[in-house]
Amino acid sequence: MFPNGQTISMTSKPSKTVKAKPKRRTNKDVAVEHLTHAQAKAELVRLALEIAVHDRRYYQDDAPSISDAEYDALRRRSDAIEARFPDLLTAQSPSQTVGAQPSGRFAKVRHAAPMLSLGNAFSDEDVADFIERVQRFLKLDEVPVIVAEPKIDGLSLSLRYEQGQLVTAATRGDGFEGEDVTANVRTIAEIPQALKGKTVPAVCEIRGEVYMTTKDFLALNSKQAEIGDTVFANPRNSAAGSLRQKDPSITASRPLKFFAYTWGEISDMPETTQFGMVKWMGKIGFVTNPRTTLCRSIDEALAFYRGIGAVRADLGYDIDGVVYKVDRLDWQQRLGFVSRSPRWAIAHKFAAEQATTELEAIDIQVGRTGALTPVARLKPVTVGGVVVSNATLHNEDYIKGIGNDGEPIRDGVDIRVGDTVVVQRAGDVIPQVVSVVLDKRPDDARPYKFPHTCPVCGSHAVREEDGAVRRCTGVLICPAQAVERLKHFVSRNAFDIEGFGDKQVQEFYADKLVQSAADIFTLEKRDAASKTKLTDREGYGEVSVRNLFNAINERRRVELHRLIFALGIRHVGEGNAKLLARHYGSIDAFRSAMQAAGEGHDSEAYKDLNDIEGVGEVVADAVVEFFAEPRNMAALDDLLDEIEVLPAEQARTDTAVAGKTVVFTGTLTKFTRDEAKASAERLGAKVAGSVSKKTDYVVAGESAGSKLDKARELGVAVLTEDEWLALIETR
Ligand code: IVH
Repeated sequence: MFPNGQTISMTSKPSKTVKAKPKRRTNKDVAVEHLTHAQAKAELVRLALEIAVHDRRYYQDDAPSISDAEYDALRRRSDAIEARFPDLLTAQSPSQTVGAQPSGRFAKVRHAAPMLSLGNAFSDEDVADFIERVQRFLKLDEVPVIVAEPKIDGLSLSLRYEQGQLVTAATRGDGFEGEDVTANVRTIAEIPQALKGKTVPAVCEIRGEVYMTTKDFLALNSKQAEIGDTVFANPRNSAAGSLRQKDPSITASRPLKFFAYTWGEISDMPETTQFGMVKWMGKIGFVTNPRTTLCRSIDEALAFYRGIGAVRADLGYDIDGVVYKVDRLDWQQRLGFVSRSPRWAIAHKFAAEQATTELEAIDIQVGRTGALTPVARLKPVTVGGVVVSNATLHNEDYIKGIGNDGEPIRDGVDIRVGDTVVVQRAGDVIPQVVSVVLDKRPDDARPYKFPHTCPVCGSHAVREEDGAVRRCTGVLICPAQAVERLKHFVSRNAFDIEGFGDKQVQEFYADKLVQSAADIFTLEKRDAASKTKLTDREGYGEVSVRNLFNAINERRRVELHRLIFALGIRHVGEGNAKLLARHYGSIDAFRSAMQAAGEGHDSEAYKDLNDIEGVGEVVADAVVEFFAEPRNMAALDDLLDEIEVLPAEQARTDTAVAGKTVVFTGTLTKFTRDEAKASAERLGAKVAGSVSKKTDYVVAGESAGSKLDKARELGVAVLTEDEWLALIETR
């Protein structure tokens, strides 16, 4: 089943027909010979712009809109044109830049040693050329010893340790300046806060890849889909989105992992080979990839590539190729870098996994939040070792050939039932239909008419103003939405009722035994009073029915955050539910505050809600809207008659700042704003965005402006960063 509200889009190559397995191209055979100087100049400008757009989507928005293979093809073409017309090379050329500028959400960190990228090889011949180049450069007769490692498809991270302690964690950014994600990284269990061992270099930067396993990614996505929150296109985006959270507690709830494979500044090099360094990083507390292998010939390196390609689907995490590195560090030193990549390493990329098959039907799934998601039913086909019979079509625009930005995709070619289509497993997980083989379109194939009514309840399905998602408007009458809401209600992170899964929800709903959440808790009483018993149903014996009732009864006492999450309010995931529970403490306080917040954005209650760190306007509005609907309140009352809600874990009261309201302003240099907020809240303080009479402290960093003036005007205590640190360290 595909999550609702998903908005991943894929563009295709400009050709109208896409073959099942595109011919592998090497760096050499990108046809540029026919180009005139003027044509080359114009095309380079166009390619640079296109690459910049995709860099931004990939690095800053965590939302790529083309596959890696397509992106590589763009860069390859740009490189080939530059190679033919070297005078056209400029400092702005894609070959001279890495990634994208930091996004501006986090403080910036200048890398002590730049974080560069890798050149790519797409064929055995490209790999042989790489080795030959190394030999020529170093004047070697023998093939140098090479370290081969899986190329992890995550995002690179630089960790700086001083005197063995983690001091900064930064993303790659543009290679020179990245984003400060220290507070978030401190929540990743696989990243040590302190290095192991008695004698570690005084300064030690370890670099590697943050990633998410396929299993964790799927679990996270289904959780996200349940709550109508962002669904990630692949584990890489999921890892990037999780790492770059404003609220470190959200990162903490995401299962991020880390493989160390290289380093930046190190004050005292402990080893002389790449392989030795990998072993050493293992000793000082990092996880390194166990498949890292020494290769003594090109054949051994290629055998590694083929071997890992064959088990790729079973690794449990995504890789997009293999990285070969010269083992001797003194040779690495001599080889150095050329523009954005080292001469001593290369990435041997896998071809995108694609296959062609027939689109037999398009089904519409209705999610819990009413989103209508089109799903392609395909004639089963093997894509990279996995049989695929369903693929996502994202939304109605995608079927029509229109991208998220309103621009044509696939040259504006639409997708029709009966078409032969190219299916791709992006990030090896969610198969998608990427293009159409127009030559094979049957004469009778007709454009697909996306339904304007819900296929389940017949209500109008309308498009949101700013999105491509069409939603069923029958929120409270649509059986599909009701069933999905109930599935969510009993799910693991909500009420977690054992033995009450999707199957029971569907059956009990269809037989009108359970129509609402409260019905779950009155099921036993009604069963006792009814002539037809649950035990009369097929597959329900005395024991299983007893167990089911016991499991339901066990959940009559529930923690507040589970209840809030279970309500299925749009955009309220587990993390937000916890924030709300902690902030309001009880269901009564929460409900009355939400009703007061319904008075408008100017109300104190709304401002208070919006000020909770991690709760933005979108979430706040969704919560307020939920509580403003009388039918939701009636359903909640019915439920509360049946259950007892445990008060939320109270904020700390035993610290110097407990119960105080603090505002951070100006440029903070001792900690990031996120870090400051997270630690203040952990200690029981409330962090507000604006200064008022209720503010207890204003912590002013460099060049603080109007908030500092306001604090002085109101006589609010103003602290420097150091004074704040001293205060939170006191008891
Ligand atoms: S070495 C100087 N080793 O691939 C370059 N990179 O396409 C040092 N990557 O930015 C990078 N697995 O994010 C290296 N085993 C590995 C890798 C790896 C994944 C990523 C890394 C890098 C990108 C380049």
